[in-house]
Amino acid sequence: KQENWIAPSILSADFAQLGKDVKDVIAAGADVVHFDVMDNHYVPNLTIGPLVCESLKKFMDSEGVKAPIDVHLMVKPVDQMINDFGNAGADYITFHPEASEHIDRSLQLIKNQGLKAGLVFNPATPLSYLEHVMDKIDMILIMSVNPGFGGQAFIEQALEKLRQARQLIDASGRDIRLEIDGGVKAENIAEVAAAGCDTFVSGSGIFGNANANDANRYDTIIKQM
Ligand code: DX5
Ligand code: ZN
Repeated sequence: KQENWIAPSILSADFAQLGKDVKDVIAAGADVVHFDVMDNHYVPNLTIGPLVCESLKKFMDSEGVKAPIDVHLMVKPVDQMINDFGNAGADYITFHPEASEHIDRSLQLIKNQGLKAGLVFNPATPLSYLEHVMDKIDMILIMSVNPGFGGQAFIEQALEKLRQARQLIDASGRDIRLEIDGGVKAENIAEVAAAGCDTFVSGSGIFGNANANDANRYDTIIKQM
């Protein structure tokens, strides 16, 4: 199991001051920026694309904010966005296997850019998609909500799926991160960690609990995680 990482989902940040929110949340101890990309086609919501990623990356570099950008693609088709986000500064790119016509090729497109690649599993998507591609995977993302919106309730069945994914990772002997996304808060993070997770996405659990004008507004919540 790898070192635990807190991955604030900027879906719940204030997009009018995205750079500042990211800077503050990383300064407060978060480890990775979770960047949710929704297309109003694969999921019923529309968020942000490569242009915003590029601007954010430039801002982070200029301000000395060091954290990987973890791009969660909820788009169909995926391949063009893999290339665009690779050029826009992504470090990790994950996609939903149902959204790709050729999963192995999409993973290879990510790897060809020297980036970390992962697959995302909706609550009803089986882990069997991993069977023939485990050697190309750097991250497995288990959804504990149906994708599309922040602020939904954690689906408990995700815990069993995390345990199964942890067994697959351990059996592979490879360094693969196991990430959870949806309904994770300070109150349930210990239970999620006990199921084998090492990378914890939290959107409303972090950004929803803060007073917008206080520079240290994320310190308390992140320390509880
Ligand atoms: C859901 C997104 C999540 C979401 C998590 O489709 O992938 O990253 O922002 O938000 P919370 O933590 O509020 O459930
Ligand atoms: Zn996400």
